[in-house]
Amino acid sequence: MKKRIGIIGCGKIAQVRHIPEFSAHPQAEIAGYYNPTRSRAEQMAQTYGGRVYDSIDEMLADTSVDAVVISLANTAHAEVSIKALQSGKDVLCEKPMATTLEECEAMMDAARESGRLLLIAQNQRLTPVHRQAREMIASGAIGKVLTFRTTFGHAGPETWSVNPGKGTWFFSKEKAAMGVMADLGVHKIDLIDYLLDSRITDVGALLSTLDKTGPDGNPISVDDNALCILRMENGVVGTMTASWTYYGAEDNSTIIYGTEGILRIYDDPVHSLRLIGSDGSVRDFDVERIQTNDNQTFSGIAEAFVGALFSRDGGELSAEKVLPAMKAVFAAIRSSGEGRFIKI
Ligand SMILES: NC(=O)c1ccc[n+]([C@@H]2O[C@H](COP(=O)([O-])OP(=O)(O)OC[C@H]3O[C@@H](n4cnc5c(N)ncnc54)[C@H](O)[C@@H]3O)[C@@H](O)[C@H]2O)c1
Repeated sequence: MKKRIGIIGCGKIAQVRHIPEFSAHPQAEIAGYYNPTRSRAEQMAQTYGGRVYDSIDEMLADTSVDAVVISLANTAHAEVSIKALQSGKDVLCEKPMATTLEECEAMMDAARESGRLLLIAQNQRLTPVHRQAREMIASGAIGKVLTFRTTFGHAGPETWSVNPGKGTWFFSKEKAAMGVMADLGVHKIDLIDYLLDSRITDVGALLSTLDKTGPDGNPISVDDNALCILRMENGVVGTMTASWTYYGAEDNSTIIYGTEGILRIYDDPVHSLRLIGSDGSVRDFDVERIQTNDNQTFSGIAEAFVGALFSRDGGELSAEKVLPAMKAVFAAIRSSGEGRFIKI
């Protein structure tokens, strides 16, 4: 029988990713939609089928809904996830998981107590290139890993959001809680944990607001650039940069340096994965191009969530696997505020 999915939040990511992907999944159907602005939920119901709910409570009370996807602004993630889990729904919540460690832990407690699944949409774990890179690193393709640099930057969320402009919730500390460190940085912090299969133990970070201004012309209340120095439990050290001010082209690259070579991931415009041997030899693996804001390819998120609903195993996106990245994000924010390295 198909799993019936409720969509909570019909903003941009739900429109370009969750709704089309769940709607296309052979073992899922979209039961319905909730959005604070009802007309947006109505548009989705007209295009993809399913009903419109007037409130989150109404959707959660519907016993025909098996699971929900939460794609609201960051500050709503914890409260809505906990409510949904306590109502007996399995949950896929967008990143960043929540805005404090206490919220993350409360979400995981709610999942444990209710016996429901809690997955976080850290979809960079799912790209075929990242999966292949992880296997190559584990099989010793570049020898012992020593260092890395990973980055995620684009021109900012103000042209992306369904409510575009300088007044976007992404720029508001009240609604987003955190800036680019948690918006884009969490993807790469989580990715490096996944690629190296090791947790971050030490974080030194500098978060800045360099260029973005709000509707009043003043600098936004969250960071638009984040630079981190990271140490992993396996001894590897590296850097992570996240930016909303890479004007002109998106950068989603990761480079891993080992004793026997270098792995360049999404670093070349043509070749998605390049292995450079310590002798200078080059091998390209053209697995696929990375998704960008303007090029939304199939993310695999629906496949991962529906698969988990049947197997009852959260797999790579389970909250337990993502929690270390959230700890590192919170440590980076603290490090920048206190001007010192933070041990996790
Ligand atoms: N996994 C990814 O790669 C990825 C990509 C983009 C966005 N996201 C995440 O998805 C979530 C939604 O982002 P989006 O890109 O769709 O943004 P968006 O601005 O297009 O949509 C925002 C959604 O949140 C709702 N909203 C706005 N203000 C709110 C508030 N104060 N409280 C609760 N809800 C509010 C809106 O009604 C809308 O449903 C965010 O948490 C974002 O970080 C993840």
